Amino acid sequence: MKEINDVIQTKFAVSKKIDESWDFRKANTKELTHCFHSYPAMMIPQVARRIIKNYGKEGDVLFDPYCGTGTSLVEANIKNISAIGTDLNPLARLIATAKTTKINSDLLNSEINNFINYSFKSNFQNKKSYSKIIPDVTNIDYWFSKGTQEKLGTILGYIENLGNDSIKNFFKVAFSETVRDVSFVKSGEFKMVRTKNFCHEEDKDVFGIMSSKLERNKLGLEDFSAVCANGTKSAVYGFDTVVGIPNFIDSNSVDIVVTSPPYGDSRTTVAYGQYSRLANEWLGYETANQVDNILMGGRKRKYDHKFDSEILNDAILKIQSKDIQRARDVISFYEDYESSIKNVSKLIKKGGFACYVVGNRTVKGVTIPTDELTAEIFESCGFVHLETIVRNIPSKRMPYRNSPSNIKGKTSSTMKHEYIVVCKKL
Ligand SMILES: C[S@@+](CC[C@H](N)C(=O)[O-])C[C@H]1O[C@@H](n2cnc3c(N)ncnc32)[C@H](O)[C@@H]1O
Repeated sequence: MKEINDVIQTKFAVSKKIDESWDFRKANTKELTHCFHSYPAMMIPQVARRIIKNYGKEGDVLFDPYCGTGTSLVEANIKNISAIGTDLNPLARLIATAKTTKINSDLLNSEINNFINYSFKSNFQNKKSYSKIIPDVTNIDYWFSKGTQEKLGTILGYIENLGNDSIKNFFKVAFSETVRDVSFVKSGEFKMVRTKNFCHEEDKDVFGIMSSKLERNKLGLEDFSAVCANGTKSAVYGFDTVVGIPNFIDSNSVDIVVTSPPYGDSRTTVAYGQYSRLANEWLGYETANQVDNILMGGRKRKYDHKFDSEILNDAILKIQSKDIQRARDVISFYEDYESSIKNVSKLIKKGGFACYVVGNRTVKGVTIPTDELTAEIFESCGFVHLETIVRNIPSKRMPYRNSPSNIKGKTSSTMKHEYIVVCKKL
């Protein structure tokens, strides 16, 4: 049987060619508040910026149904566009909120200086006036040395005593990245893999790492505040568009959606929950251990679901013939995806745009054309497909690698391109 890529001849397939001007190979992706915190499969700010330039305008309302760390929200705000984002991962919501919240710079400077003075004393004179908070982190001794736990607990106690919520969030974001850096998680891994070079007695410079992140993020926030129009805001929520839209957001109220959905379920693609677990637990978020189960594709669906899309049914049949469980993962994800798009499409005004940055994942050798499916589902909701831009993903930013054969050490990079699918509501 031919691979699905060879047989697709839908109208959406016609005009796809790579546009290298969207690669942004040399771009600084860490400017403004984009420097705040790393996260798996982040959108390139320049991609969001160009989409907004092409399809948005001042005074619009932008919505991102999978906002992650808020890349599109930041980019909207600097173009005088108010933004709404939602994400089920509490860590992502924290980062997105902090990245889009201006703080008076004198206040921020003085709070950072206070922390640096305090941490200097804690480090060298052992003066600890705040009670330590060491929460119930699963297998804490496996992931952190005792000394590191004490220091993180001291910082958390300090943060909890900060009076202002915006400052608290700003500090929590730096704390979250610090947690990751001082843990025994292998650097450069999104999954929870312990480094081989750890030492249980090793004393990490926890306060120094935290302080330098605060300083770095302060500069990013100053740059953001300088270019962000007054009165332009972002609101970040935790609702699930797969299930529905809360009634505080009106139908037909959004001008543009700019988003990058997950590529598939967390178990077989990017494990956002696993990546965030330690930080989510340190920060006391109740759903810390549930995140990957509640994200798209996390709920298992029936084996035999039929979609309206023949392209998708065809791909699933091919996967089923090789691995019925993997086919079920795919069904579970795309049922959620379809339902999310149907709900999101109701929010968009007539004449408004849906801009989805998607990846076409390969399962058991079958490439699923998510870009075409996205266009197809939006067309079934009263939209017209305008264009699909294909961009290279520079190799160092590959969204994920997997082990298709489940042979240890044998990985394959599964995606080389990203597709920016643009549809307009009629
Ligand atoms: C590709 S990432 C988005 C990255 C984001 N554009 C950025 O630059 O940080 C996809 C996000 O979708 C979120 N997600 C997955 N399923 C979701 C759902 N049903 N509702 C809301 N968010 C969801 C994940 O937690 C993850 O943060």
